[in-house]
Amino acid sequence: MSIANLRQPVTLSAWARLFAPIGPQLAEVERRLQAELRHSDPFVDELAQRSFNLGGKRLRPALLLLTASALGDVNDAHLTLAAVVEMIHTATLVHDDVIDEADIRRHKETINARWSNQTSILLGDYLFTHAFYLASSLDTTFGCRTLGRATNIVCEGELLQTAASGDFELSCQQYYRIINAKTAELCACCCALGAHYAEGDQHTVSRFDSFGKHIGMAFQIADDLLDLTGEEHAVGKSLGTDLTKRRMTLPLILLRDQLPQPQQCELHALFELPSQASRTALLDWLKQAGILGLAREEALVHASRAAEQLEFLPDTPAKKSLLQLSQAAVSRCV
Ligand code: IPE
Ligand code: IPE
Ligand code: MG
Ligand code: MG
Repeated sequence: MSIANLRQPVTLSAWARLFAPIGPQLAEVERRLQAELRHSDPFVDELAQRSFNLGGKRLRPALLLLTASALGDVNDAHLTLAAVVEMIHTATLVHDDVIDEADIRRHKETINARWSNQTSILLGDYLFTHAFYLASSLDTTFGCRTLGRATNIVCEGELLQTAASGDFELSCQQYYRIINAKTAELCACCCALGAHYAEGDQHTVSRFDSFGKHIGMAFQIADDLLDLTGEEHAVGKSLGTDLTKRRMTLPLILLRDQLPQPQQCELHALFELPSQASRTALLDWLKQAGILGLAREEALVHASRAAEQLEFLPDTPAKKSLLQLSQAAVSRCV
């Protein structure tokens, strides 16, 4: 698939095609996840299995494995770490759905909607602890330590976001700080670990770290656009939750900053009354003001910065996939 074709929205099967160079290794990660998360108690087993059901893109394991493949061979530590990062990511989603009071995830009812918030909190904890238990099976503590730090930062990002709820004055800089922590950090960590465990030198690890950071930023900006513009049945998760939780995301910040004072007050009023009607009104406003394109351009800036980080690499199928991924992070519709 060429980068030009990626101007079309990227669907779940298109993500899978992008991961083709590491297809067999991703299948092995899937087997390890299934094996790790089996439980003798049927309830725990059902919950753990359900959280990994079809519908997840497996972006983080793919970033880790494609990095490894771009630098040499994928080894056993990479496979373990790829399973670990997906467990950590899924744990953050299970908790995030409680925070956002979301009903749908990966095309199914969320754990909180189907069971309860208590169940979600405990299942998220179970996935976090299992991830670190598995990571501790590696020969050194480096992976555990690096993941521990990144997961801490993800939690800080979700905390900062919670604190910023209802803040109509949130600056662009504050918004970037939040998405950098809650999303970009784990993507960066996946790439850095892929490079480290491929015996990449300091420069290589840092290039990949930066690549993952920019992909993560582009991905979250696109996700925040999808929250406003997407269709739940296509995306497979609850949308509009940024508005119902009164969160200023990039499109709203850009719109606010270009409006004269009286219209800012109008926007503020819409922001204070989150409902399906205000989502529609807001979307029309964002379209008319050309804000959707502006936010997309911001995401594209991150996608190009990501691509620049890989200029030093020889051309391989894995490098090509990583470059296409940087575009796909912006063109995504799932
Ligand atoms: C969702 O991540 C959380 C964000 C960072 C926006 P994904 O969109 O990668 O979720 P899955 O794993 O495919 O379900
Ligand atoms: C969540 O961001 C990022 C995480 C750290 C889990 P969002 O709240 O935008 O993710 P979605 O839209 O629910 O997937
Ligand atoms: Mg959410
Ligand atoms: Mg979102």
